[in-house]
Amino acid sequence: MASTEDFKGRWALVTGASSGIGAALARELASHGAKLILTARRRDRLEALAQELAAKGTEVRVVVADLNDPAAPQQLYGATAGAGLAVEILVNNAGLGSMARFAPAPSSRK
Ligand SMILES: NC(=O)c1ccc[n+]([C@@H]2O[C@H](COP(=O)([O-])OP(=O)(O)OC[C@H]3O[C@@H](n4cnc5c(N)ncnc54)[C@H](OP(=O)(O)O)[C@@H]3O)[C@@H](O)[C@H]2O)c1
Repeated sequence: MASTEDFKGRWALVTGASSGIGAALARELASHGAKLILTARRRDRLEALAQELAAKGTEVRVVVADLNDPAAPQQLYGATAGAGLAVEILVNNAGLGSMARFAPAPSSRK
């Protein structure tokens, strides 16, 4: 089982880091010494979180990306591996909740 020590100095990519569970996990990973790449669509929120974490000594990068956009994977690759950052931890959290009867519910939502 992984120890929290295992996060120290490693790059963690958190999708959906602008709110909720993603932001909470980003804070938790930073508190255990991880370096963070924060991604979501809302730049203002990502930058506020990045400033908060950087003030505590965490190395942070922000990548604004809409994961509905087919260009987003290449954009994220370019900002991570393409920029020489080896991502070792992935929190693949971006998404949304939708409560509805299954049959009439839309298969996707913007
Ligand atoms: N909370 C729960 O009880 C619960 C239960 C089961 C599963 N989940 C799942 O856990 C994850 C997080 O939930 P949460 O409650 O923390 O929700 P949340 O506060 O709404 O956060 C969702 C995150 O996903 C990002 N996101 C949404 N669509 C995106 C897109 N197209 N491209 C990039 N980023 C996108 C949002 O950022 P931007 O809007 O800035 O892009 C936001 O940072 C979701 O996948 C959700 O389905 C949550």
